[in-house]
Amino acid sequence: MEQLERGGSLVEKAWAKINLGLKVRWRRADGYHELCTIMQAVDLADVLWIEPAAQTRLTCTDPELSTGPDNLVLRAVEVFNCRLSGAPCRVRLHLEKHIPMGAGLGGGSADAAAALRGLNRLCGAPFSAAVLRELAGLLGSDAPFLISGGTALARGRGEQLEPLHWEGDFYYVLACPEVAVSTVWAYSQVQPGLTPSSPYLNFVSSLSGGRVAGKALINVLENDFQGLVERANPIVAELRSHLSLAGAQACSMSGSGSTVYGIFDDRNAAQRAHQGLRAKGCRSFFCRPA
Ligand code: C5P
Repeated sequence: MEQLERGGSLVEKAWAKINLGLKVRWRRADGYHELCTIMQAVDLADVLWIEPAAQTRLTCTDPELSTGPDNLVLRAVEVFNCRLSGAPCRVRLHLEKHIPMGAGLGGGSADAAAALRGLNRLCGAPFSAAVLRELAGLLGSDAPFLISGGTALARGRGEQLEPLHWEGDFYYVLACPEVAVSTVWAYSQVQPGLTPSSPYLNFVSSLSGGRVAGKALINVLENDFQGLVERANPIVAELRSHLSLAGAQACSMSGSGSTVYGIFDDRNAAQRAHQGLRAKGCRSFFCRPA
């Protein structure tokens, strides 16, 4: 994860994630769902500035986001301080939002993960990445992955991670319609375990040594939320076919939506698809792996 220093503040980039396939296996006794998904961090990011202060306080560029104690950044400070022995770390935080919310890109989890990394740096690295992932798991199902980013197979709630090395070198074009999908709603609608075996699950079972061959993964992408989210929001299906017609090798929805992404091996085709979406007035991001 990229780290920057500017004007005496410590700066952390909070990378977004996309799901390269997402299967909901079953509903668990604790109300969460058992997942099988490959997560990929991308270089669309929020930026979090952190500096020591007498009182902990958060400001944010997006007036729609609460800066109260419910914000995942402030909750990250709380769980960090609870684990810290000695005096709590008090900080002034400023969050510059770029990742759309309710978009299936893990924006809140990304901010929480960035806050944990930044606090750890500020305090002289008292915690290992494994401890940061454990703390992140208290804040959001995507947050443990976003501590280190890259590419990883995630199971459990999303916290059981196996890093993957993907040999493919792709460009991602994200299309983010102006509809926010509630994750809680999407999980309440999904019918888990409809397909105990599927090309995607078979592909995941066949992974060995953490290596993912070039295009094998993109030929088997499935997202269990896609059908139900597209039925409720036809724009999601329209954007997916737009990306497909623009030459994407594969298209899928990320997480529980509403973002759809296209995967391209040709940079120019990806740029054209991105510009085409912007010309239609759609929020679009041209991304590389992070
Ligand atoms: O963990 P997080 O706060 O991101 O999850 C938001 C909601 O999504 C949970 O309250 C739950 O309803 C649902 N969820 C789930 N199973 C998961 C992840 C999330 O049911 N593995």
